[in-house]
Amino acid sequence: MIRPAPPLLVPPLLAPPLLSWSAASRRDLPWRRTRDPWAVLVSELMLQQTQVSRVVPLFEHFVRCFPTPAACARAAVSDVVRAWHGLGYNRRAVSLHRAATAVVERHDGRLPSELDALLGLPGVGAYTARAVLAFAFGRDVGVVDTNAGRVLARITGRRLGARQAQELATSLVPPGRGWAWNQAVLDLGATVCTRRAPRCGECPLSSLCGWRAGGLQEPDPAQGSAGSGSRQASFVGSDRQGRGRLVDALCRGPVPVDEVALVAGWPDDPARARRVRASIVADGLAVEADGVLTLP
Ligand code: ADE
Repeated sequence: MIRPAPPLLVPPLLAPPLLSWSAASRRDLPWRRTRDPWAVLVSELMLQQTQVSRVVPLFEHFVRCFPTPAACARAAVSDVVRAWHGLGYNRRAVSLHRAATAVVERHDGRLPSELDALLGLPGVGAYTARAVLAFAFGRDVGVVDTNAGRVLARITGRRLGARQAQELATSLVPPGRGWAWNQAVLDLGATVCTRRAPRCGECPLSSLCGWRAGGLQEPDPAQGSAGSGSRQASFVGSDRQGRGRLVDALCRGPVPVDEVALVAGWPDDPARARRVRASIVADGLAVEADGVLTLP
């Protein structure tokens, strides 16, 4: 069967329905009540691969502990890892500490407002840099994460490469509305244009949607599109679970190297424990001295 050509996107048609939908239903989230670039950076790093509901309390605690890049840079990595505790992917805490140090050393303690300078910070990639530009500095750049990438692919009815998605995302931002537009797109992807079972009946853009115009045919254009990423591998029984257990233990105190296998949950798999120990040290999450591991 020949698929109908997806309708051409007419950016000015998208803005009014999406922005009014968002004004009525925007999620009230703590990082949306601030334009402080440091707080926005913290929130965006926390939100990567972690659910909003888990991030909310930890975000508030973290920015209370480390209200500025300088406060974070001055702290020991161990304190930053402890404040991060509960979010998982603890390596991000080490990256954030390194980013804070770079902000102090290179930018006088203030987050830069230029894309290239943001991209030069440890742990800050294409998504995070643009999120800081849009959500802290109000810039008209498109922010493409998993949710936004899915919305863009479906609206156009096309599978999009990373560059295409980024260019399209930026071209769609209504002038002067970078903050509101991007928050709206993220909310639409998270709550309506969901990966499985999208709620097209509630979507403010359904009449403009290319995928819907083509009868929601499979494959879903979002599949394999920019930002769709790979599904998170199963946690239970993974190295990640063992790493998490080890970092939990390190947050409570030093762990003798001989006990790593037990603490990581694999008493009978010393080779795996060695691998995890080495990766944690290589990531800067632990230091090893005299047969004992500690947070740095
Ligand atoms: N995920 C990433 N950034 C977000 C934001 N600003 N609000 C909600 N979810 C997000």
